[in-house]
Amino acid sequence: MPEIKLINIVGARPQIIKASAISRAIRKYFSDSITEIIVHTGQHYDKELSDIFFDELEIHKPQYNLNVGSAGHGRQTSLMITGIEEILLKEKPDCVLLYGDTNSTLAGALAASKLHYPVIHIEAGLRSFNKTMPEELNRIMSDHSSTLLFAPTNAAFKNLMAEGFRPENSPPYTISNPKIYLTGDIMYDNTLFFANLAEKKKADFLAKLALKRNNYILVTIHRDSNTDDINMLSNILVTLKDLAVLKNIVLVMPLHPRTIISLKTRLKSLYDDLMSCSHIKIIPPVSFLEMILLEKNCRMIITDSGGVQKESHFFKKPCIVLRKETEWIELVNNGTAKLVGADVENIKKEFLYFMDIHTEFEYPGFYGDGKTSEFILNEILLMFEKE
Ligand code: UD1
Ligand code: UDP
Repeated sequence: MPEIKLINIVGARPQIIKASAISRAIRKYFSDSITEIIVHTGQHYDKELSDIFFDELEIHKPQYNLNVGSAGHGRQTSLMITGIEEILLKEKPDCVLLYGDTNSTLAGALAASKLHYPVIHIEAGLRSFNKTMPEELNRIMSDHSSTLLFAPTNAAFKNLMAEGFRPENSPPYTISNPKIYLTGDIMYDNTLFFANLAEKKKADFLAKLALKRNNYILVTIHRDSNTDDINMLSNILVTLKDLAVLKNIVLVMPLHPRTIISLKTRLKSLYDDLMSCSHIKIIPPVSFLEMILLEKNCRMIITDSGGVQKESHFFKKPCIVLRKETEWIELVNNGTAKLVGADVENIKKEFLYFMDIHTEFEYPGFYGDGKTSEFILNEILLMFEKE
């Protein structure tokens, strides 16, 4: 086995959670051959969006934290690129590993590819086909700066082919001769690993929130298109509140700070109204183990999150997606996720459909065998063996 130094770049909540799957597989199977350096851009910095995951998911503390914080896209991304470039020049890694589609992903892709370090992109090929989403631009640019691209689904793999990536490329792989793989999803690895642990470590979590199994709905909202447009945010929340009262069911909402800031500063009377409603529980962001328990025991999930959509499938829960399109299109084709955007009539229709239907849905295994992280790491090492 070759010995390599890998820089693992994280910044936003879901990337820290994803990094735990890779770090765990390195510790378990590849500790002799892979030295991992974690670089945190500091895109997320609140304890509930960052530190909590390092502690709970047993990821070693980042060797570097750029502490970039919140800013406009240009400033935030450029500060990250500058910081990552300095680290790359100092550490001279063999490759740089990136997850998903955030500004931290894009910054890592640009800094590394311009210095000719191979970029490895996990969650490659996902597309919403909506270029007004910052994430869509980040995905496309990161994929096209990468040397190894790991697509988590058939749809993602096909998207890469449609953009000119060729599955038949042979080694040596480079940015000009990249390799695309169809893998599973490393978040499925995580769910399998942490689901039982969550039950053991957080046994009293639901009781503390006075929640009963199958008797509440989990809601998350953080997408810029929903939080920054107060008409959309208000449409969604007023409709959901009315439906919760109508159906006498509790909505639990661990809300991202972005959403809370919008509510408190721009929709204060709605915020007060929600806080005083007995069917609504707005709570701070929860830890991943707590989130797993909320997902596993709820009746239904309503979200605009990419990760939470998939987790609804892992836990066999119907999902209403507060977006007009999704990168995880197999969920919609399966009939267990419904796209509603922020449209009041659509939200009502699909909410009542899932509340009233008594059919048992099928939840096929779209996301691999739970060993995707090992597969990815093995392929990374093979690239260096063949060089
Ligand atoms: C980012 C990603 C999004 C991902 C999400 C995961 C981009 C463009 N967006 O969105 O793809 O789904 O992370 O959660 O990269 N804030 C805090 N505390 C923090 C971090 C942010 O209060 O620790 C607030 C700030 O007001 C900030 C706002 O949230 O301006 C947005 O944060 P930002 O990191 O820019 O984007 P997210 O909405 O978190
Ligand atoms: N998550 C969490 N606590 C929360 C909300 C989300 O641990 O309060 C987890 C969730 O289980 C999923 C990931 O964060 O694994 C999704 O992150 P997010 O919704 O912020 O971003 P996205 O996936 O849309 O990029």
